[in-house]
Amino acid sequence: MEIGRKIIQLNTVDSTNNYVANLIKQRQIDSGTVVLADEQTAGRGQRSVNWESQPGMNLTFSYFLDNVNLSVEQQFRISQIVALSIIHLLEGYSINAKIKWPNDIYVGNEKIAGILIENQLKNTDIKSAIVGIGLNVNQTDWTSLSATSIAKITEKRKPLMDVLLSYIGKFNNDWKSYLNDYELLQRMYLSHLLHFEGSAMYKDESGEFEGTIINVLPSGRLVVRKGNDTCDYGLKEISLIS
Ligand code: BTN
Repeated sequence: MEIGRKIIQLNTVDSTNNYVANLIKQRQIDSGTVVLADEQTAGRGQRSVNWESQPGMNLTFSYFLDNVNLSVEQQFRISQIVALSIIHLLEGYSINAKIKWPNDIYVGNEKIAGILIENQLKNTDIKSAIVGIGLNVNQTDWTSLSATSIAKITEKRKPLMDVLLSYIGKFNNDWKSYLNDYELLQRMYLSHLLHFEGSAMYKDESGEFEGTIINVLPSGRLVVRKGNDTCDYGLKEISLIS
């Protein structure tokens, strides 16, 4: 599996994930195709939050992974590999980023990239996946979100296409290295996970508590030590406070 042999560049689109989904419906997309837009009018984030990005300033793109040979139980691997590929891209700019579980990319307390993966299932297998990435490159101020970008950190603007091509290289490498080596993938993921084996404040259904992330299960659930207990959480069941 390789991405980036074909790159479709759009000026404006509702969401690059939607654009890829439509091409899939029309059977007009090859595996690995990357769709990039200067501007999204309805960019989507996780948990139905919008993804905001100043037009032409950042990378907002999606790619299509067809024939992903994974079962539904293994779908978190895609998330892990994509998160690591962004970490590796940023390392190339000497930026030390962390994965905020499950797959937000942070530098310090500021978000630099977000990932939205939408899988197409066939029975208990993943048939294909749409991977959407919003990566802040040249934007330096935000109204709401506490965010950062490559330019804000390095104090140098970057040509978006250079960053995209570099990303494509990192993903292609990481997919090859990690897809069939879960142990290595898990080790790499945990070593870049924010607050792994360190204490932090969390909130779950019973309130705020100090806890320590001790693992992430193959399903993607987060395992946290809470006093003398060990609890595991799905996406909406826990949030990090600080
Ligand atoms: C998040 O952190 O909430 C995920 C953000 C994902 C944003 C990207 S931008 C390109 C692609 N198209 C979308 O509509 N969303 C993703």
